[in-house]
Amino acid sequence: MQKLIIKGKRNLSGNIKISGSKNATLPILAASILNNQKIEISNTPLVKDVITMVELLKYIGSNIKINYKRKKIVINNKKKKFRTLAPYKLLKTMRAGVIVLGPLLSKFKKAKVSLPGGCAIGTRPVNLHLLALKKLGANIKIKNGYILAKAKNGLRGAKIKFPSISVGATENAIIAASYADGVSYISNCATEPEIQDLINFLKKMNVNINWVGKRKIKIEGTKKLKSANYKIMFDRIETGTFIIAGALIGTKIVISGIETKVLKKELQVLKKMGVKLEIKSKEIKILKSRKIKPISITTAPYPGFPTDLQAQIMVLMTKANGISTIKENIFENRFMHVPELIRMGAKINILDNVAKITGSSNLNGAEVMATDLRASVSLVLAGLVAKNKTTVNRVYHLDRGYEFLEKKLKNCKAAISRLH
Ligand code: UD1
Repeated sequence: MQKLIIKGKRNLSGNIKISGSKNATLPILAASILNNQKIEISNTPLVKDVITMVELLKYIGSNIKINYKRKKIVINNKKKKFRTLAPYKLLKTMRAGVIVLGPLLSKFKKAKVSLPGGCAIGTRPVNLHLLALKKLGANIKIKNGYILAKAKNGLRGAKIKFPSISVGATENAIIAASYADGVSYISNCATEPEIQDLINFLKKMNVNINWVGKRKIKIEGTKKLKSANYKIMFDRIETGTFIIAGALIGTKIVISGIETKVLKKELQVLKKMGVKLEIKSKEIKILKSRKIKPISITTAPYPGFPTDLQAQIMVLMTKANGISTIKENIFENRFMHVPELIRMGAKINILDNVAKITGSSNLNGAEVMATDLRASVSLVLAGLVAKNKTTVNRVYHLDRGYEFLEKKLKNCKAAISRLH
């Protein structure tokens, strides 16, 4: 099993180019199922989850190819015969695989998709996905760990109102409604920038889809989809992670390939913590911060503070003078990194879904275990600022979502290497 070895306390400086967004790439690839015309998707991060989604689409029958050199994915499904099955073996490592349910059902009128199952951060239910597809006319049963969905006469446009906000369910509903007969209104949608990226892609494929309220989308379904070239947006979470690395131990880090206007909440929080930032529209410079201040935050759907940056900002909070708190409002079990950070010298107490971080602590290197994608990277951040050596085990979690993490950090003079 691979490990990352980090020798901490090295000042970071240099430039980091942010990769394309994993969470935008996954639903966009799933939406390609709808279209028989040629699709070219560029700026795709070639991380494990994206590769798994490509494998899943190949399994289903898609003619999909990765151009590693040009970071492009090309899909050409003319005259391709599909099977409408997404098996457990491909969904067990990547729960976002359930996003193929909507497009398969909409296009082929039936689908059999493995239930994604639980994971370290929570139970990962799919009731909201199913609610939306049922509203669009699907008949759904659960049998032997699989979702069996049918729509004999195809899906029909409908009014869907989500009882609570879900990124994945919003995406499944949007993609399914794009190929349904008639008009759909979907309300109480997630509004994450990655959802906007999916909408932009569907528009390029000729779907008439627009926001008609703050959390409400109108979609006119169509079967006349067009060929499309699309560039994936930048990864917001990777950006936040590297800004926090800069805040922890940077002297001057310049982050490019981004659009700062979608990072309002994150930047507001970091500024309040005293992180020295120079913000331009497509670039951020992080300079050495003199003093990090404590803060209280709550994770929330966009435009709130993202749960996917919670573990990383917690590491920065260990460096703040005083008490910070984090209320985790999205997932029920997302403090798996806390025991490991405590082993490195952090002072953190958890009560229900609130973590109380008392700083400032001097972290010490230790052998630690990664439990999920964002928890893993928080341990890397802790290792960068800790005294001596940190060994992060189970780095396969990191590889699911971070492209060239070590290379990007090494370019900024970090002492990080991988043990195979
Ligand atoms: C997506 C992101 C993930 C991020 C999360 C929240 C991708 C591939 N993943 O995950 O990185 O952490 O958004 O921003 O984009 N829920 C239900 N029923 C459902 C679906 C969800 O109760 O049918 C609950 C979940 O348990 C959770 C909350 O809704 O408590 C939000 O989850 P959701 O927004 O669906 O997360 P994902 O789409 O899985």
